[in-house]
Amino acid sequence: MTYQAANESEHTGGAEWVLWREAAERALYGPEGFYRRPEGPAGHFRTSVHASPLYAAAVARLLRETAEDLPAPVTEVALVDVGAGRGELLTGVLAALPDGFPVRAYAVERAVRPAPLDPRIEWSERLPHGVSGLLFANEWLDNIPVDVAEVDDSGVPRYVLVRADGEERLGDPVAGADAAWLGRWWPPAGPGTRAEIGWPRDAAWAAAVACLDAGLAVAVDYTHRAGDRPPFGTLTGFSRGREVRPVPDGGCDITAHVALDSCAGPGAELVSQREALRRLGVSGTRPPLALASTDPTAYMRALASAGEAAELIAPGGLGDFTWLLQPVPAR
Ligand SMILES: C[S@@+](CC[C@H](N)C(=O)[O-])C[C@H]1O[C@@H](n2cnc3c(N)ncnc32)[C@H](O)[C@@H]1O
Repeated sequence: MTYQAANESEHTGGAEWVLWREAAERALYGPEGFYRRPEGPAGHFRTSVHASPLYAAAVARLLRETAEDLPAPVTEVALVDVGAGRGELLTGVLAALPDGFPVRAYAVERAVRPAPLDPRIEWSERLPHGVSGLLFANEWLDNIPVDVAEVDDSGVPRYVLVRADGEERLGDPVAGADAAWLGRWWPPAGPGTRAEIGWPRDAAWAAAVACLDAGLAVAVDYTHRAGDRPPFGTLTGFSRGREVRPVPDGGCDITAHVALDSCAGPGAELVSQREALRRLGVSGTRPPLALASTDPTAYMRALASAGEAAELIAPGGLGDFTWLLQPVPAR
């Protein structure tokens, strides 16, 4: 790779070298951005939200448990879905809650409100303020753009610059807050190794948690932890259900696993999705065979549900996602 100053954009035959964070921001959220497209995330990949209504039912249970712990009197319980996609999770949770539960549902999403959508769902690009309840962010933080560092042949971590066609080259040495974050959370290793600079996710998560006056904030994502970071990073692309080369031209998702340990605030807990859903009663246990003869319809329904639960908690699949559980004591 060749080097170029990271703070200078170079236009050569239409090719512009920019930092990855800027490139991904434009590719995902610019006017022609991937997440502005009409098909939405569900047109390209399947999250836990799309996999089964059991997921929304589990979040509904978590909302009710969170409500029980709120300081009295509780007249309204907020459910804030950050990175709400097309409102699928909120729609599912509203359907799973008992009649009369005093929920107020907020979708926080950069894409425009889809139609039709349950009129009870409030839709905004901005977080609400001063609400109490549950904030939930499924596969949001991995889509907060970050810069990428690569260690050069002399052992110096440098910014990776990228063009809209996905070609890369190295820029300036990593400095300032970026270098400090790497040093603390993802210390550079030998030449050729790479790391994603995660502080923009830490900041985004802190801002999301701050919108709660009391309750619980949950982020669910692909993750890695200090001491076990992937040596070449995780930046990748997704399009139409397939993993693809990350080309920041708006044609694919640009994503990287999240260092949730650096996002975690005081009192936070990190657990696997398998464990988090088990606590919420999602087990994947097959129904007893005897049910097949006494009530074949109920048996078939329970069997299908067990299959969906198994997908949500599968090792090597959705079950390996991590839940960051961040309690917010009453302020
Ligand atoms: C991978 S999708 C996940 C959608 C949904 N949560 C799910 O699990 O199916 C990530 C979503 O986060 C949204 N997003 C990214 N950054 C955001 C931000 N700063 N504020 C609000 N939404 C954001 C994107 O537009 C996209 O719809």
